[in-house]
Amino acid sequence: MAVMVAGGAGYIGSHTVAELLDRGQDVVVVDSLVKGHKQAVLGGKLYIGDIRDAAFMDSVFESNPIDSVIHFAADIEVGLSMKDPLAFYRNNVYTVMCMLESMKKHGVKNIVFSSTAAVYGYPKSVPITEDSEKNPVNPYGETKLTVEKMLRWCDKAYGIKWAAPRYFNAAGAHESARIGEDHNPESHLIPIVIQAAMGKRESVMVFGQDYDTPDGTCIRDYIHVTDLADAHILALEYLKSGGQSASFNLGSGSGYSVTEIIEKVKEVTGKSFRVDIAPRREGDPARLVADSRLAKEMLGWHPKNDDIGKIIESAWKWHTTHPDGFNE
Ligand code: NAD
Ligand code: UFG
Repeated sequence: MAVMVAGGAGYIGSHTVAELLDRGQDVVVVDSLVKGHKQAVLGGKLYIGDIRDAAFMDSVFESNPIDSVIHFAADIEVGLSMKDPLAFYRNNVYTVMCMLESMKKHGVKNIVFSSTAAVYGYPKSVPITEDSEKNPVNPYGETKLTVEKMLRWCDKAYGIKWAAPRYFNAAGAHESARIGEDHNPESHLIPIVIQAAMGKRESVMVFGQDYDTPDGTCIRDYIHVTDLADAHILALEYLKSGGQSASFNLGSGSGYSVTEIIEKVKEVTGKSFRVDIAPRREGDPARLVADSRLAKEMLGWHPKNDDIGKIIESAWKWHTTHPDGFNE
């Protein structure tokens, strides 16, 4: 049987494809390549098309023995979601609805869906557990929470089993450095700081230094992309062995401020660069740190790359060996 990886040419999807291939699984990737990269798909079958195209999806399901789906495909930029919420409902809700319709039509009963820490909004306390209040403060987080609710109803009505890992901040690259993060435009902190260290940017802007944190900058929980990939595969195994549908956090449990990340990049790379203080970015919570005990208990997940220095080193190796990302 084969696993469909929707959005498998993107950052987290391509690392999950690599892990599935390492474990000898048959993989079918569906990606529009609107944001993803063909070269990021290290194996399996790649079908280029949009999940919202039902005829295209029928042909993929009919030509392959697919028994499960890992769905990464989405628009991911929180800032853009504030400017154009409808685009996010279209791609982050309607696309998943189309995927579920295709699954229902072709009798596929297991789905792992990329959710996010953004479902929690401004958390009252950290580390965040799954039962913390869900109050998204941007359309991006809202669309992910909407899908989690849609999944619940689809389980009840059609018996589609789902797992919705809520990731904190994905970071790092594959140990081979053959694949890594290549978003355009890049909005994530670690690749931006690395680009500054490489001399590709004049400076790094720190979005706000007046938060209620020890150094005034926002604290995040950075989780290595290979550990995320591993958790998806475990989640699929969990569902296939009869596990109940569930949402769960995926993070390292350690928080690092923006300033600490900048200092760590300087230490790992030996490079210095200009750092400017900029106004706060709208919708940024001061602290997001995961309590991931549920994923560990439920899936037997043990993140292996939770040292922030090692995470940055792996990203540095990818960026310095691919200064133009996949476009070279
Ligand atoms: P990405 O943009 O690198 O990958 C998404 C992929 O989906 C791209 O290759 C894109 O071409 C494809 N895609 C998008 N819409 C499509 C459609 N309608 N049909 C077919 N393909 C489509 O993003 P990523 O950073 O790998 O994130 C993957 C998932 O994880 C997303 O759902 C995102 O919301 C979630 N997530 C990411 C982070 C993070 O830190 N990167 C954190 C939390 C959650
Ligand atoms: N930041 C800067 N300067 C930059 C870029 C980011 O100071 O140039 C700061 C942000 O303000 C934030 C922190 O660095 O405080 C991390 O920002 P990212 O953009 O790297 O990540 P976010 O925490 O905003 O969001 C990421 C994913 C979302 C996911 C969320 C969950 O992009 O998909 O993590 O924690 F929902």
